[in-house]
Amino acid sequence: MQSRKFRIGLIGGGGIAQAVHIPGWKNLPDVEIVGVADVSEPTAKKAAELAGVAQIFSDYRDLLKLDLDAVDICTPNRVHTPAALAALEAGKHVICEKPLAVSTAEVRELGQLADRKKLKLMTAQHQRFTHGAKAAKAWVDGGNLGEAYHARVRAMRRAWLPTSPGFIDATLAGGGPCMDIGVHALDLCLWLMDFPKPVRVSGSAKTVFAKGHDMPNMWGEWDRKRYTVEDFASGYVHFENGATLMLEAAWMCHQTENEELLAQIFGKKGGIKWPTAEFATVVNGVHSQGSLTHPTHVEHPHWNELAAFYDCVVNNKPSPVPWTETIKVIGILEAIYTSSQEGKEIALKL
Ligand SMILES: NC(=O)c1ccc[n+]([C@@H]2O[C@H](COP(=O)([O-])OP(=O)(O)OC[C@H]3O[C@@H](n4cnc5c(N)ncnc54)[C@H](O)[C@@H]3O)[C@@H](O)[C@H]2O)c1
Repeated sequence: MQSRKFRIGLIGGGGIAQAVHIPGWKNLPDVEIVGVADVSEPTAKKAAELAGVAQIFSDYRDLLKLDLDAVDICTPNRVHTPAALAALEAGKHVICEKPLAVSTAEVRELGQLADRKKLKLMTAQHQRFTHGAKAAKAWVDGGNLGEAYHARVRAMRRAWLPTSPGFIDATLAGGGPCMDIGVHALDLCLWLMDFPKPVRVSGSAKTVFAKGHDMPNMWGEWDRKRYTVEDFASGYVHFENGATLMLEAAWMCHQTENEELLAQIFGKKGGIKWPTAEFATVVNGVHSQGSLTHPTHVEHPHWNELAAFYDCVVNNKPSPVPWTETIKVIGILEAIYTSSQEGKEIALKL
C-alpha cells in the first residue's frame, strides 16, 4: 500500500516556481504538488504541466480549500503577505519566496499567526544553502571570527534590471534592488553575524538610470512609466552591540563586474567573505588567509532549502529561516526607505 505523500499547493507559477521550486519539489520522493494557483491561466497551465498536476486555480483561496500540508508562495512580493496569511488561516505550513513581506508589521503579523497556530513559516533564503555559505557559517561558529564589529553588504549589478511589473511596479514589488537582491546579501551577513539587534538606520534610495534611456539592460526593455522603485539604495546600520554595517544594492550602475554579491564581516579574530568563503586571520603572529570551498562543487541551494522546509515540518524542527530573523532583515530594508523619504536616521524598535 502506498503511503500518503506530503501535499504542496503552489501559489504563483512563474519564473522562479518553474525554474527551481517545481524541480526541487519533484526531487523529493515523498512530496507531491497537488495544485497550482496563478492569476495568469497560461502560466498556471505551464506550471501545472511541469509539476504533473491537474488542478489549477486563478484564485489562491480556492487552492487553499484542497487537502494540503503546506503552501509554497512564489508571487510578486506584495502578494506574499495576503497569500501567506490566508494559507496560515487555512492551517497550512508556509514557505515563501524572499522578501517574506515588505514591512516589519507584516512580518510580525505573519510570524505571530504562525506561532499561534503552531505552523511552520520559512523565508526562502536559498543562499544560506550554498556550499560557500555553509562553510563560512561553520568557520564562524567554530570561533574563528571573534566579535564582529563591522560588515559590508553589496548586491550590485551593472545592468541586470528585471523587466516584469512584479519587480518594477512599487504596488507589486514594494521595493527595487534593495528588497530584491539586497535582501539575499543582508540575510546572509546577519546570519553569519548571529543576528545582532539593529537599532538605528540611515539610508538613501534613488532612481538614477531606470527612468531614462541611456543604460542598455541585459534583460531588455522595460516600462519607464511603470517604473516606481529605486534602482540604487545604500544604508548604514548600528546594532545594539556596537557593531555597524554598510549596505549597497543596485540593478544598474557603472562598474566592471556584471554582478557583485558580497557579505564581508570583520571580526576581532578574523574576517570572512561570502560567497567566496575567503578568510583572513593571524596565525602565530603571521597574516594568513585562504578559501574554505572548492568552486567547482555542483549544488542546488533552492532544492536544499525546500528539503529543509519539508524536514522541519515532518520532523517538527524549528523553521530553518524563522520570522524572528527575517524581521531584522526587513526592518533594516524598510528603515533605509523610510530614512530616505524622511531625510533622517530611523530608530528601530523590533
Ligand atoms: N530566491 C531567488 O533566487 C529568487 C529569484 C527570482 C525571484 N524570486 C522571488 O520570487 C517571487 C516571484 O518572482 P518570479 O521571478 O517568479 O516572478 P514572475 O513574475 O515570473 O512570477 C510571479 C507569478 O505570480 C503570479 N501572480 C501574481 N499575482 C498573483 C496572485 N494574486 N495569485 C496568484 N498568482 C499571482 C503571476 O501571474 C506570475 O506568474 C518574487 O517574490 C521574487 O522576489 C526569488
